Amino acid sequence: MIANGDVFGKEQSVILHLLDIPPAMGVLEGVCMEIDDLALPLVKGYVKTTEPELAFKDVDAAFLVGAMPRREGMERKDLLSANVKIFKVQGEALNKYAKKDVKVLVVGNPANTNALICSFYAPSIPKENFTAMTRLDQNRAQSAIAKRLGLCVSNVKNVTIWGNHSSTQFPDVFNASVKLPGSSKSVYDSINDSQWLESDFIKTIQTRGAAVIQARKMSSAMSAAKAAVDHMRDWWSGTSEGSWVSMGVISDGSYGIPKDLIYSLPVSISNKQWKIVQGLKITDFAKSKLDLTAKELLEEKEEAMAVCNA
Ligand code: LMR
Repeated sequence: MIANGDVFGKEQSVILHLLDIPPAMGVLEGVCMEIDDLALPLVKGYVKTTEPELAFKDVDAAFLVGAMPRREGMERKDLLSANVKIFKVQGEALNKYAKKDVKVLVVGNPANTNALICSFYAPSIPKENFTAMTRLDQNRAQSAIAKRLGLCVSNVKNVTIWGNHSSTQFPDVFNASVKLPGSSKSVYDSINDSQWLESDFIKTIQTRGAAVIQARKMSSAMSAAKAAVDHMRDWWSGTSEGSWVSMGVISDGSYGIPKDLIYSLPVSISNKQWKIVQGLKITDFAKSKLDLTAKELLEEKEEAMAVCNA
């Protein structure tokens, strides 16, 4: 998708830097053969390597997907001790070798805390440049609402994911709307079933990743890749007037959320800079959800720092 222009546009050529661990070099060789054989005009070259310094040299955008995936019965935070050090190493390498305006998207779980650690070890790069992927949750929520209403996903706007990419996340449709030609109505009014919206819907989105693992015996792949594309494309090209997307970004105290967590928030984007959307209505119900997911992120942060310092 990147090589085909879905992220940076159909005019932008790309050089792909592909980093993997030594045992995976044979597979990576095969991937590169396929990149050749795709014959995509935008691909100006690729670098395949096991060395973070080569992988991150002068990159403009980084998709950090390399991490141990979770298996059935695990929470994403159970991966913390196995994965967080990868993001320490990658943060250090980004700090030394990447461009200072590099845009970093962390996909490997636990994504929010991994992004925080990556940023911590890359102090020369602005904290705003490190983000975690909650677009998959946004897409899941948007799709579930559209399906319930028998509409297309493009009719559902401004679904917000708050907090952690975990089972404590809060998929919030209170400020979301259903747009049809000539009309716009709130999702709440359109669905007219607050019981479903405040229980089953939330639970389904919170546990969707686990449900996919249970069905596939492997974690999501296609939908995760598409969400990564959506995230980086919107960061690169901006959001449209009056609409926002959800990204795990560094918190600044907005909405009473503790500062310095990578917390999923509604953001609007222009000139490749995201801005937290302010002034959304937060009910008491929503506030309790926001606090719960913040608490989990604070605990993860503490554990991750302990792992990195051990
Ligand atoms: C997902 O949400 O599908 C991914 O984060 C993989 C997982 O572990 O759930």
